[in-house]
Amino acid sequence: MATPVAEQTQAPRIAPLTNLKSWRALQAHAQQMRGVHLRTLFADDPKRGERLTAEAAGLFLDYSKNRITDETLRLLLELAEESGLKPRIEAMFRGEKINITEKRAVLHVALRAPKDESIVVDGENVVPQVHEVLDKMAAFSNRVRSGEWTGHTGKPIRNIVNIGIGGSDLGPVMAYEALRHFSKRDLNFRFVSNVDGTDFAEAVHDFEAEETLFIVSSKTFTTLETMTNAHTARTWLLKGIGGHQSSVAKHFVAVSTNAAEVAKFGIDTANMFGFWDWVGGRYSMDSAIGLSTMLAIGPENFHDLLEGFHAIDEHFRTAPFERNLPVLLGLLSVWYTDFFDAQTVAILPYEQYLKRFPAYLQQLTMESNGKHVTLSGDTVNYATGPVYWGEPGTNGQHSFYQLIHQGTRLIPCDFIAFVKTLNPLGRHHDMLLANVFAQTEALAFGKTPEQVKAEGTPDWLVPHRVFEGNRPSNTILAGELTPAALGKLVALYEHCVFTQGTIWQVNSFDQWGVELGKALAQRIIPELESETEPKLAHDSSTNNLIRRYRKQKE
Ligand code: F6P
Repeated sequence: MATPVAEQTQAPRIAPLTNLKSWRALQAHAQQMRGVHLRTLFADDPKRGERLTAEAAGLFLDYSKNRITDETLRLLLELAEESGLKPRIEAMFRGEKINITEKRAVLHVALRAPKDESIVVDGENVVPQVHEVLDKMAAFSNRVRSGEWTGHTGKPIRNIVNIGIGGSDLGPVMAYEALRHFSKRDLNFRFVSNVDGTDFAEAVHDFEAEETLFIVSSKTFTTLETMTNAHTARTWLLKGIGGHQSSVAKHFVAVSTNAAEVAKFGIDTANMFGFWDWVGGRYSMDSAIGLSTMLAIGPENFHDLLEGFHAIDEHFRTAPFERNLPVLLGLLSVWYTDFFDAQTVAILPYEQYLKRFPAYLQQLTMESNGKHVTLSGDTVNYATGPVYWGEPGTNGQHSFYQLIHQGTRLIPCDFIAFVKTLNPLGRHHDMLLANVFAQTEALAFGKTPEQVKAEGTPDWLVPHRVFEGNRPSNTILAGELTPAALGKLVALYEHCVFTQGTIWQVNSFDQWGVELGKALAQRIIPELESETEPKLAHDSSTNNLIRRYRKQKE
């Protein structure tokens, strides 16, 4: 047992996961389920496809094509109860400091709370602060969008570059791509994240400095990549405009929790949009980090996005677990991760606008639940966060679906689709949706050797053309990809991650695992830059690589 610290009194008092009654029952039950085929489950229950569905706020979830029975569901729901999911949800919404390793509340739900709600952190209602920042963002966005906000030389802003990384990039870029249909088309948006100079160079290569606005987005305002890119951007701007320091004020705004560092960089804090330590980076796309989103789609659409988030927050907080979409989605992924040894989850949006959604979910899910110690500091003896990955359909079908259909690994899939397209073009949308339904059908039911033979396939070829089936999938079907729908979808996965983390008893809200690499890089930078041969004290491989790089760059 790790040494208890005072803050751990916040940790829920739950028995180790593998000692829970429901967990043990699930282990035994999983043995029975291994040989059960989805073909049988559907044949035995003609209404399964209608029964094992749930709907909330316009999101429809079909989870019937999972390798589960009513008994599986009963046990998974019992696991949620035994794990204290209900009190933990309540603790989050109450603003308790459930992020115990950083002693912080976890309140992304406050970012979309209506004005008249009250959520108290350290004795203060944070909801009015949230709306104050939203109003400031709206006023600024309107000025830029209308052309009233001009650059240093009096020209309106035409280009907006968000500089940020991780949660300060992935949310903004995903939302921009997802809601491009609603965006102001005469504004150009680019997103710079990588410390690789190519990212910045390519982002601005066709931009005029006098028409360009940089949003430096960083919760801490100390992140190496972001600060390096921000300094490069300032140099680029001053060069382009003719060296006026005063021009920075018209071309740079900041989104951060760190006013002191923003001022040190030279950005007027009047042009800073704040947020709070109770917003995790990967849960921040609907905070001021969404400034680029608001500039693109306008304040009204941004408010619709927030309403979408809030609708699923309310659903997660109040719906019984058996009809609770994020809870069901979370429990199903625990089922495959821990009882079927599934290593990954594929996210397959059949919606081109969601092309960056899988990348966004990678940070949300893996930075949150990629943990191997519990809240009490004990090492887990079960698998936690799976690898999330994916590509939009139908492109993935012509790339990696082969392995999902006929490979040796079990890959649970989430298919995401919309009934209506924002770009109706001939038969495209029916074809797209036909592919969604076909894929989930093929994965679940496959094709037996008898069926393959009956098609006249020669015996030697039959094994190659057989589809085992029994590959599980969820289908999430929504109306149309509006700002509200995007908010719902993101909140669905945020709370799915919360559900998983609660079951696995990990802290889904810290990210200590990113620290070591950052610290080592800080040590190596001067070793690469030093004029004289540095004295290296790494392992022989790292020393050798550094020497080789130094030699060859000369
Ligand atoms: O990679 C670690 C991390 O801290 C993420 O959690 C975060 O989203 C990202 O870096 C960027 O941090 P910041 O917004 O402080 O620049």
